[in-house]
Amino acid sequence: MAKTTVITNISSLVTNTPSLGAGPLGVVQDAAVVIDGDRVVWAGESSKAPATDNRVDAGGRAALPGFVDSHSHLVFAGDRTAEFNARMSGQSYRAGGIRTTVAATRAASDAELEANLVRYLDEALRQGTTTMETKSGYGLTVEDEARALRIAAARTEEVTYLGAHIVSPDYADDPAAYVDLVTGPMLDTCAPYARWVDVFCERGAFDGDQARTVLAAGAARGLTPRVHANQLSHGPGVQLAVELGAASADHCTHLTDADVDALASGDTVATLLPGAEFSTRAPWPDARRLLDAGVTVALSTDCNPGSSFTSSVPFCIALAVRDMGMTPDEAVWSATAGGAAALRRTDVGRVSPGARADLLLLDAPSHVHLAYRPGVPLVSAVWRAGERVV
Ligand code: NIG
Ligand code: FE
Repeated sequence: MAKTTVITNISSLVTNTPSLGAGPLGVVQDAAVVIDGDRVVWAGESSKAPATDNRVDAGGRAALPGFVDSHSHLVFAGDRTAEFNARMSGQSYRAGGIRTTVAATRAASDAELEANLVRYLDEALRQGTTTMETKSGYGLTVEDEARALRIAAARTEEVTYLGAHIVSPDYADDPAAYVDLVTGPMLDTCAPYARWVDVFCERGAFDGDQARTVLAAGAARGLTPRVHANQLSHGPGVQLAVELGAASADHCTHLTDADVDALASGDTVATLLPGAEFSTRAPWPDARRLLDAGVTVALSTDCNPGSSFTSSVPFCIALAVRDMGMTPDEAVWSATAGGAAALRRTDVGRVSPGARADLLLLDAPSHVHLAYRPGVPLVSAVWRAGERVV
């Protein structure tokens, strides 16, 4: 039998389990967590912790669930420094920049793509991310999309087929034929590697009818929809996501009242990605409006070389608190339990009996410091599936 370990002397523990502690985050002061194998088996006040084989002293640091980053694009080659520089000199972001990364990704070897993916997953892990979704979408041929998903599936269980990122440059004159490819032979080849199907529903990418066709085809092959929705302008993406029962509508930057109402009445999580607004100088999504309407909100990085080249959930938490109307508690919940909801997972995003033992220690007395001390590398230890990895 695996040895049990107790992490004790935790100043403040976020469990995301209201029955265990105070408030919606279920915060326990002077806490301990017991891990057996890859699972949490006990969490509560230190003084009540059961006897165990091993003891780890958290030194009065705060602990919280590992971050669940439910939206990233990590299988790519090259970067887009020139495009970023041009934006910071006044140019605006356009979906067409994706083509630059498509060309670089197609030209890269499998080994290069794998090395990049591992680099960004490790970078995220050091910043506390223990679950990371990632997408294809920079291949846009049957072979290149399948290759991206195969490489991703070897490193994460949360893999999304995004053949419908933009119309492939090879089909610039015939977008309908590209949709046929994405919903036909490309889907057939890619579906075995993926859990989710996604589409970029936006001017310059796919319209509402095309997005519906892509998501329905994916769903018919057993992939659950998620949607890049209402990022650069208002469009049909959010309402389509809710109508099709998508797990998540991602971005949600340009919303009407009807969009907010639709999200509030359905099961679709609104995933906000402030790294994208930061690095495109776009208006912030209004998290407060969504939360006040009762929408479940997740917070993720959207890590990609074009619109949001950050793997840092703590950075996104700080932005969400400073500029999107979230409280520190709400932002931490959204980056952990919210991300888990967006991935329809109940085994991650919480520290309570039965959960996968994914948690981190902060060099700080509480989780509030993630927003209070922006840009400071506070994550000082990480466990994933019961194993100390940082
Ligand atoms: O989520 N919006 C579409 N896709 C990415 C951007 C991809 C890119 O610019 O390379 C996003 O922001
Ligand atoms: Fe994205």
